[in-house]
Amino acid sequence: MIPTSTQHDPRTDPWDAASLGQRFEEVRSRTEALAAPLSPEDQTVQSMPDVSPTKWHRAHVTWFFETFLLAEAEAGFAPFQDQYWFLFNSYYETLGPRYARPDRGLVTRPGVHEVGDYRAHVDARVRDLVDTLDEGTLEKLVPVIELGFHHEQQHQELLLMDIKHVLSRNPLQPVYAGRPVERCEPDDLGWVEVEGGLVEVGHESAGFSFDNELPRHRQWLEPYRLADRLVTNGEWLAFMADGGYERPELWLSDGLARIRAEGWRAPLYWTEHDGLWFEHTLHGTWPVNPGLPVAHVSFYEAEAFATWSGKRLPTEAEWEHAVVTDGQGGQHGRDDRVTGNLGDDGSFHPRPAAPAPAGSRLRQVHGDCWEWTASAYHPYPGFHPPAGAIGEYNGKFMSNQMVLRGGCALTAPGHARTSYRNFFPHGARWALSGVRLADGGAPSTTTAGAPT
Ligand SMILES: [Fe+2]
Repeated sequence: MIPTSTQHDPRTDPWDAASLGQRFEEVRSRTEALAAPLSPEDQTVQSMPDVSPTKWHRAHVTWFFETFLLAEAEAGFAPFQDQYWFLFNSYYETLGPRYARPDRGLVTRPGVHEVGDYRAHVDARVRDLVDTLDEGTLEKLVPVIELGFHHEQQHQELLLMDIKHVLSRNPLQPVYAGRPVERCEPDDLGWVEVEGGLVEVGHESAGFSFDNELPRHRQWLEPYRLADRLVTNGEWLAFMADGGYERPELWLSDGLARIRAEGWRAPLYWTEHDGLWFEHTLHGTWPVNPGLPVAHVSFYEAEAFATWSGKRLPTEAEWEHAVVTDGQGGQHGRDDRVTGNLGDDGSFHPRPAAPAPAGSRLRQVHGDCWEWTASAYHPYPGFHPPAGAIGEYNGKFMSNQMVLRGGCALTAPGHARTSYRNFFPHGARWALSGVRLADGGAPSTTTAGAPT
């Protein structure tokens, strides 16, 4: 079983050395638990440029604490290995040159055991620092330590997405974890009406958020409705059977060019054998289960499916406002409104839609699949990235990407929240991404459609 987080809630219970130390151990040990089922060879492979080797993730999150915490606050700081700063810097231009991302799989040394030594060394120094700093200095460092926790949790999710792709390329179809759920059919899709108007979106409360969730601000929403669950594999099969991947009128121009160039005719990880579709998962390859949410589709595919359905994708503000008005808006940590199929039970795959929480109507809000929105990833009005290298964390990616909301079945427990803005390029499919439809507000097209 993968360790989960404590119930410490920094909104009501300020961090101190003991609680920071405890959360540090939990986050760090969860990364190691996720890597534990993988061989050194599994942890070294990079199956495509977007994927990073497991051992690189383990080292990079360590480099993050070393760079942004120890180097800033430790007396007489010296790096564990000078070369590691070059190898394990991901994208921070301010910090100097770095090794090319597409070549991470070529780095056979340091091996997984040396990466383990690096982790243990930095862990000991972080523990020592947190235990010995005076209260005032520690308080100033809380934001970067907490960012280190959430950064490592982001990489825990990426580690799982990436190893899923690595294992998909192995003809033996190895199992990482979990078991398939029984075959089921999609249940009826419902719609939740939302009044709209002048609403507020963005992170609210004293709890942690990434900088891109701020500032909280107002947006105008026309009345709209949101599907009460994610689009299913069964509905996606109907889209495919209706020529969904062959009909140009359903596709954005860039999307059509992409599916033609890449030969896409189904979601990533789907393969056809003797007229039947199978799906690669972290628990092996199984027949596509019609009742499960469709996963590993790009923005282009999500958008084409919505057009085929006579519906559209929600904007990120519509998604967030609908979740809040449905009584499911919440922050991470102890907030029991943030519930769902997240990466806390070791199944690591979307599940059929369960009933909504008591008093709510939207299903599968947090967890299962990150949900593509119709919103480009742009700064909120008044956004200013922090000064220094840490300002590169989010802000510089605000171009040519789309926002996804909600979290997925690989998201670390305690990491999801309603205002969380994930983002990927339009054609990305290796992230665990799915589709929720919206309607109203903006004019919809009318074509042959499935979900009504
Ligand atoms: Fe990172």
